[in-house]
Amino acid sequence: MLRVAIVGTGNISHNHIQGYQAMGQRCEIVALVDIYPEKAQEKKDRYGLHQARVYSSHQQMLTEETDVDIVDVCTPPYVHAEISIDALHAGKHVLCEKPMAASLEECDAMIAAQKASGKTLSIIAQNRFTDAFWRLKAVVDSGLAGKICHAQVDSFWWRGHCYYDLWWRGTWEKEGGGCTLNHAVHHIDAIQWMLGFPTEVVAMMSNVAHDNAEVEDLSAAIFKYASGALTQLTASVVHHGEDQKIVIQGEKARISAPWATFASQSADNGFPQEKHNTQLEDQLETLFRSLPRLQWTLHSGQIDNFLSAIETHTAPLVDGMQGKRSLELITAIYQSAITRSVVTLPLSPQSEFYRTGGLLARAPRFHQKSASVANFSEVGAIPLGKNLDTGAAQ
Ligand SMILES: NC(=O)c1ccc[n+]([C@@H]2O[C@H](COP(=O)([O-])OP(=O)(O)OC[C@H]3O[C@@H](n4cnc5c(N)ncnc54)[C@H](O)[C@@H]3O)[C@@H](O)[C@H]2O)c1
Repeated sequence: MLRVAIVGTGNISHNHIQGYQAMGQRCEIVALVDIYPEKAQEKKDRYGLHQARVYSSHQQMLTEETDVDIVDVCTPPYVHAEISIDALHAGKHVLCEKPMAASLEECDAMIAAQKASGKTLSIIAQNRFTDAFWRLKAVVDSGLAGKICHAQVDSFWWRGHCYYDLWWRGTWEKEGGGCTLNHAVHHIDAIQWMLGFPTEVVAMMSNVAHDNAEVEDLSAAIFKYASGALTQLTASVVHHGEDQKIVIQGEKARISAPWATFASQSADNGFPQEKHNTQLEDQLETLFRSLPRLQWTLHSGQIDNFLSAIETHTAPLVDGMQGKRSLELITAIYQSAITRSVVTLPLSPQSEFYRTGGLLARAPRFHQKSASVANFSEVGAIPLGKNLDTGAAQ
């Protein structure tokens, strides 16, 4: 049985604790760490984790809990790298929340620590473990829709003004960025998982509705791929109703999450015929429906994958390199928006935006952070966007 320590016991820790508990005898939570130890104690009581000890620092936990196998990092982004690296150096496996780190240089240090330790490192990208994305990826991979021409990625979220009043949010230093980094990371991960890595990125960003935050609350980017295909991505926390979607246009058909397909056919003059290609649509539909539903979804799905990787000595689906790829795209979006230029990928380790502190030095402060709340009242698990199978909050 794998022994787990959770570091950071705020909002997202609910999803992690529930995920580990769902895995039955495969693991047990033996330590809870938070700089506000009363928050760790609250989780211990709420989830009946009677055997778990509470700590106020991860270093102390690592010193005292020598037989912990897994350190699960649920802290704000600016300490992800430090805690993950300390844990890997102590010989622990690490599951780290998104975004992987505050810079690509920090990602490299995490990947190096993973390699040196021989332990497993996985970065949260729980939306890969949804039927909507899992099946869409399989349909893309089948090639039935033909060569990919375009993707529309609507990473539409909505957050109230006071969202940015939490002490670590709304600053480039501690949150690391705005909605492009912290919300769209899920959809950026998904599109790079499905379509691969682009070669060029161009973007603009703004802050239109949160005058208590330094960071952006809206950005629009275009990715260009070696094939010539384009992705258009909007990252936002100003979209009422959070109507999130990914629509992919293949040469032969349109496919999407939420799932829908349409295959136009050409008339002799090139205009679309009224009768579309229902034979191809049926083939796509049959493939989509034939893919079995996932046993575990979202955080539970990724925790299952992470535990399996440790148990079977295989790589997890979302390893350090995969986590870094999303951050590289996000860094390119920021670099393009800040320097008002087209950015070529991969980013050079010599570039200032790659290095720790580089983005912090150049990022625009859209507004001053005007309030700092230590903790909001405890509400239990938070909504994590739209379930693209059902349209409900997940
Ligand atoms: N995967 C998702 O869908 C999802 C959703 C929300 C948040 N997140 C990510 O989870 C992380 C935490 O976000 P949250 O909303 O839970 O924030 P939160 O503020 O509710 O919780 C973070 C907790 O970490 C504690 N903490 C801060 N620094 C610490 C340190 N050095 N050592 C130990 N504990 C420390 C804080 O006191 C707090 O209790 C962020 O990286 C965020 O981007 C992911």
